[in-house]
Amino acid sequence: MASRRVLVLSGPNLQRLGKREPEIYGSRTLQQIHERITAEASVLGAAVECRQSNHEGVLVDWIGSASEDGFCGIVINPGAYTHTSYALYDALLAAGIPAVEVHLSNPEAREEFRRHSRTAAACVGKVAGFGEGSYLLGLRGLLDRLPASG
Ligand code: DQA
Repeated sequence: MASRRVLVLSGPNLQRLGKREPEIYGSRTLQQIHERITAEASVLGAAVECRQSNHEGVLVDWIGSASEDGFCGIVINPGAYTHTSYALYDALLAAGIPAVEVHLSNPEAREEFRRHSRTAAACVGKVAGFGEGSYLLGLRGLLDRLPASG
């Protein structure tokens, strides 16, 4: 079993990928994206657990127990909570393990309210604008920062 386990979180409305504004978010479902991340992790000698929730508190709970649950890092697409959530910001700061923020679209090239991320400042890095590739690049970047095992 891979010793490096990464928690991959997706926030509100991302369960609708494939149907939701495909011209912005692409035609692949979240399930398909999760399968691709899982395959990429295995190539990189790691393992991922992929979860999605529409609920801020559930995401806070998952982030808060990630370290105790054996994860060494987090890849998170907080969806619209990116732009609003001090609770997720605090949870990421308190997590005790590094996180990378990812977005399918490039929020900074979109509506004004998307141009600010409340959560990115609690992360070691951010990848946006590459569709599902943002998750893969975020995972790779996170793993590059972590010890080879542990
Ligand atoms: C998103 C960008 C957010 O602004 C938006 O609210 C989302 C998806 C993205 O992946 O591009 O739900 O996080």
